[in-house]
Amino acid sequence: ILGGVLFDLDGVITDTAELHYQAWKELADELNIPFDREYNEKLKGVDRMASLKLILKNGDREFSQDELVKLADQKNERYKELLETLTPDALLPGVRKLLKALRRDGILVALASASRNAPTVLDRLGVTDLFDYVADAGAVALQKPDAEIFLNAAEGLGVHPLRCIGIEDAEAGVLAIHRAGMPAVGIGTEETLPDADHHVATPADLTPALLREWMEEFP
Ligand code: BG6
Ligand code: MG
Repeated sequence: ILGGVLFDLDGVITDTAELHYQAWKELADELNIPFDREYNEKLKGVDRMASLKLILKNGDREFSQDELVKLADQKNERYKELLETLTPDALLPGVRKLLKALRRDGILVALASASRNAPTVLDRLGVTDLFDYVADAGAVALQKPDAEIFLNAAEGLGVHPLRCIGIEDAEAGVLAIHRAGMPAVGIGTEETLPDADHHVATPADLTPALLREWMEEFP
């Protein structure tokens, strides 16, 4: 029986990857480190400090822990400025409709994002009220592909993990969902997300009935 649906944020609810890219790009340019949209793909679902380290790998300087924290803060300040441009228009197709349909059916909804800015993003998109619980990325010790954030989200809903289904656009997130014991819906294709149990192009292709069906057939 489907009790809860756990959503990733970036790439599932909205496409903030481009804003993350712009903020990182400005920092990389300042440091004279090559960085492009293709490399940005590797940062999807990766937390802030780990993302910074992946970028700095392509430069030849070493940074102290203090410097790393400053650089991560600098990127985040810029990212927060960019978030001010976000409006409900940035919701991916079908998200609001799906969230409302789940609520109507009594299915609980949580956010399981690695982003510490997730609450701000939900506010800007105007969908905060449609979430029953938002997992705190800052309180999670082990990042995706570890199961922690999805288990935390299920716990926050008060729904057993085996009654939840997860929705992700990144392979690390799909692995995290599976490690939490849940079926994984991929926003993408067999090629981009080979481990997802089902694939759809956008959340507009999802309905509560379909998610229920996929929950039932999951081993
Ligand atoms: C994830 C994004 O959702 O959040 C990553 O896919 C990002 O690109 C991560 O690095 C952390 O985000 P934030 O907002 O805490 O810096
Ligand atoms: Mg994502």
